[in-house]
Amino acid sequence: MGSGSQTFRGGYAKLGFCLPLSRPAETMSTTRKIREKFAEFRRAERKAYWLWDQGRWRYFTYRHRKEALLNSVFDREHAIETAVEIPLGAVGVPQADVARGNAVYRPLTETVFRAALASVHFDPAKFTFVDIGSGKGKVMFMAADHAFRRIVGIEYAAGLHEVALRNIASYRSKTQICKAIEAVHADVLEYTLPEGPLLLFIFNALAKQTMRGFLEKVDREAARDPKRPIALIYTNVRTVAEIGNVFSALPNLRIIRRERKYVVIANEAAAALAQ
Ligand SMILES: C[S@@+](CC[C@H](N)C(=O)[O-])C[C@H]1O[C@@H](n2cnc3c(N)ncnc32)[C@H](O)[C@@H]1O
Repeated sequence: MGSGSQTFRGGYAKLGFCLPLSRPAETMSTTRKIREKFAEFRRAERKAYWLWDQGRWRYFTYRHRKEALLNSVFDREHAIETAVEIPLGAVGVPQADVARGNAVYRPLTETVFRAALASVHFDPAKFTFVDIGSGKGKVMFMAADHAFRRIVGIEYAAGLHEVALRNIASYRSKTQICKAIEAVHADVLEYTLPEGPLLLFIFNALAKQTMRGFLEKVDREAARDPKRPIALIYTNVRTVAEIGNVFSALPNLRIIRRERKYVVIANEAAAALAQ
């Protein structure tokens, strides 16, 4: 950090970030920032668009900070570490495979997870829950508040898989129901899905083409036994529209629910149970 930007290392720093302490330097840099923004605005050809874009960016930054704080609180409550975001290249994913895994690890927030899961009305005791791209394990821990038969997380980054194993060992929760939690180090394209009814979960894990490849694999699995319920919840940090039309033209799966941040696809056997 530059001069005048000492940081406060108590309180919030324990939650994973620091606050600027030096007021004068902060004020000076803010003044300079305002001048620069004003000059940018004067130079902008489409001023209304520039203002809209700035507002959107500010909102995204605010929301990201709020989510980071809530993620840290979740970790502290449960004696685990899942909040810190990290590029996949830094946790053992070869450069050639980074882009197809969307480049960065970040955990899902509780709000989105709970809304997405509440949208399907399965009896969890019949299902194995599988987190596709499970990172440090947060989705598995949130799923453990439900009576799933078993919970599995598949992760291709060796460094994240190791953190998930440590988290499983240290996880503490008064609301945990499912204790059968297993982290698997594998690429989801090569992994053989568990037998029996499946609830698959994906949070921003796969880039479009890889996602399509994985969905076709799930579709083939559904074709093997039409009576076996298979459903998949896909969540996106901004909007599911970002993944495009990957859910279309799958002979054995159809969309049964679509919201801004999540979509649920299922075969007929799972669709009948989800009502
Ligand atoms: C956005 S993170 C979500 C992590 C976790 N589901 C959560 O919400 O806490 C996506 C994860 O998918 C993993 N991933 C991406 N491509 C993968 C693949 N082909 N096989 C296994 N894991 C993959 C990444 O390494 C990353 O940890």
